[in-house]
Amino acid sequence: MKRSITTRLVGMFALTALAMFTLVGAALYGVLGRELTRHENDDLNTNLQNMRYSIDRFGDLEHWARLQVKMDTLSPADGSVRFWVLSDDPRFLYGKGLDEMERVNLGEAGHGSLTLPSTGRTYRTLSMRLAPFADRPAVRLIVGVDTAPFEHTMRAFLVAFGLLALGAVALVMALGWWIARIGLRPLHQLSDQARALRPKTLSQRLRLGRLPVELEDLTVAFNGALGRLEDAWQQLEGFNADVAHELRTPLANLIGGTQVALSRPRSAAEFQETLQSNLEELERLRSIVNDMLFLARADQGEAATGLTAAVVAHEVEVTIDFFEPLLDDTGTTVAVEGELQAQATMNIALFRRALTNLLQNAIEHSAAGACLVVTVSRRAGAIWIAVTNPGPAIGAAHLPRLFDRFYRVDSSRHDTGEIHGHGLGLAIVKAVASMHGGATLATSEDGLTTIAFSIAGAA
Ligand SMILES: Nc1ncnc2c1ncn2[C@@H]1O[C@H](COP(=O)(O)OP(=O)(O)OP(=O)(O)O)[C@@H](O)[C@H]1O
Ligand SMILES: [Mg+2]
Repeated sequence: MKRSITTRLVGMFALTALAMFTLVGAALYGVLGRELTRHENDDLNTNLQNMRYSIDRFGDLEHWARLQVKMDTLSPADGSVRFWVLSDDPRFLYGKGLDEMERVNLGEAGHGSLTLPSTGRTYRTLSMRLAPFADRPAVRLIVGVDTAPFEHTMRAFLVAFGLLALGAVALVMALGWWIARIGLRPLHQLSDQARALRPKTLSQRLRLGRLPVELEDLTVAFNGALGRLEDAWQQLEGFNADVAHELRTPLANLIGGTQVALSRPRSAAEFQETLQSNLEELERLRSIVNDMLFLARADQGEAATGLTAAVVAHEVEVTIDFFEPLLDDTGTTVAVEGELQAQATMNIALFRRALTNLLQNAIEHSAAGACLVVTVSRRAGAIWIAVTNPGPAIGAAHLPRLFDRFYRVDSSRHDTGEIHGHGLGLAIVKAVASMHGGATLATSEDGLTTIAFSIAGAA
């Protein structure tokens, strides 16, 4: 069953009320019992003192009949108060059920209790030994009050109080339910607001206005999540636009080139040339699509597979070798520095792909004859590979966005149709890093631009 705050609150209110009533009830029950007992004891005492006085003063055989009448008078017909006199002399015996009482242990004097088996009535008693007087031997005077009324009162109290408590608990539960509903109303209002959110209205936020403080945290956190969602959504929408934009140029080139080729009769050599240039555009398209598929897989959290332990500096050297022709052309040199023995567990193909992208950028953004540096370093359990090149500084505003897809610092170059890259190179570097549990970093100061990525789990 689903847990409900309302049910829990109502349950807790009910338990609290029940505990309170039980406590109060027990206290009242105790007080009532004590008061009733005190009252009964007073009664017993008065009756005992009264008779004792008479028996002590006039308790000889001559007056005994009168005393018996007095005791008769003092004993109500309902039997709620009774007197007994026990004596060795049978002439001075008095009281109902005397024969039964032999069996009852009353103690010498003071308080006790006795039950008359014939009637089943129980009496609370007070007894006293009275010294001989004239022709009367010593006797024992016993006064008893019936405990039935006492018990009846106590039971009536219990029943009445129990019913009252039950009623009150029910009332508390109803009130608790009502209070919980009122208390939770802001939550329902929040839910209503949240339900109205749509992708189109992602810029909306839940209103903090009159929310209770307890809900403020939740709402702020939820609004934060909305903000991140909105960013992601906007990025996605921008990304779609970028993709379309990116595909448009090669497609336009393809169509234009083909249309020109078809506009008049051509020689086989001319068609071949057209096909050749079409092929280049098509390959460009394919590489964009492949890059995007790769990025999509990395986005879904795919980790690098085919991991092997390799000496990082060695892999750097091998990658640089591929650039030999380009480096020779531009007179650029590359130095490898840092921890040349450091090893890392990685997918070598992915590593080379990432480094290739960095080297391409570095060569592209530095003047001919520049000296590039690839630094391998170990930091916090990760291997960092940084490519540094001299060149114009990248504005601080651009640095955090360099690794975004299709992001280019100088977008005008792109719009003029000058084709350098699609702006996916660094996005792929970032994807490779994250597939290896690593991160990326870009700095640009003092005429040096450094772009780095890391691979977790340095050996
Ligand atoms: N070493 C660098 N110096 C200056 N700017 C750089 C450097 N590396 C990258 N950038 C900037 O970052 C942008 C993004 O680089 P990225 O490699 O992602 O894309 P690209 O080089 O434009 O295209 P692609 O690599 O897909 O062919 C570049 O357009 C460039 O403006
Ligand atoms: Mg690039």
